[in-house]
Amino acid sequence: MKVVRRVHTTQKNKSKIIKEFSRFAKEYDRHNIIQSEVAKQLVAHLCIKKYPAIIDIGCGSGEIYKNIQKNYIFFDHFIAVDLSKEMLEIHPSGNAVEKISTDFNAAEAYASFDTQAEALIISSSALQWSQDLDFTFSWISKKAKKAYFAIFTSSTFKTLHRAAKIHSPIYTEDQLKQSIDKYYNALYETHAYKLHFESVYEMLNYIKKSGVSGGEKKLTYKQVKNLIKNYPLDYLEFEVLFVDATSRYFA
Ligand SMILES: C[S@@+](CC[C@H](N)C(=O)[O-])C[C@H]1O[C@@H](n2cnc3c(N)ncnc32)[C@H](O)[C@@H]1O
Repeated sequence: MKVVRRVHTTQKNKSKIIKEFSRFAKEYDRHNIIQSEVAKQLVAHLCIKKYPAIIDIGCGSGEIYKNIQKNYIFFDHFIAVDLSKEMLEIHPSGNAVEKISTDFNAAEAYASFDTQAEALIISSSALQWSQDLDFTFSWISKKAKKAYFAIFTSSTFKTLHRAAKIHSPIYTEDQLKQSIDKYYNALYETHAYKLHFESVYEMLNYIKKSGVSGGEKKLTYKQVKNLIKNYPLDYLEFEVLFVDATSRYFA
């Protein structure tokens, strides 16, 4: 069964981030090496093996769903949430799978699926694009008691940002923790990853197609030229905050 339920979103909300994900949706699986590893590690954190519902926020092409299947974690209902319809189209379908196209930065998203204390909320490599962390975590924390998040931090591409003299468009580890702590009792782990490349040009191409930059920061031709000349590493750096969270709302 293929259900793509669409919750109304204005064109203004459909940011550059989503346009980039949609543009490269078909190629996403070839460029999501790190996100794929992150989703695998996040699912490995799940202790309970059966849930009435699993809600995957920013589900993309289904890395979480695939790992949940591989790890024999069972559910009655899987809700795959993503603003990009192109990503939802390539997410696995099934009788128990409901796909909802909606924006986790908008309140209407949280009316599009039921609150269920015993459900599991999971989100991998997506919430770094929250426009307002307090808004997002406050809503998410009211939908289910248990949540697992993996969120890229601003130390991702840190040497590249330094070399290009730009600020990371995403949150620091401290900013993430400060907001999450308001709504959850949380345990944290930070993991660093390296991805090696033959050239800086290949690195920039990877960044574009993997959606990690989200298209929010476009370098000028001059910045790209400088970067190719001055980037000191033959790898890209990534940093991800893993969160095992229990909502205070249900305490
Ligand atoms: C880097 S991908 C990760 C996908 C998947 N969770 C994984 O681990 O491979 C981020 C996903 O978040 C989605 N996304 C970004 N901003 C969003 C928003 N505001 N609302 C809903 N989905 C969003 C994108 O469309 C994309 O599919």
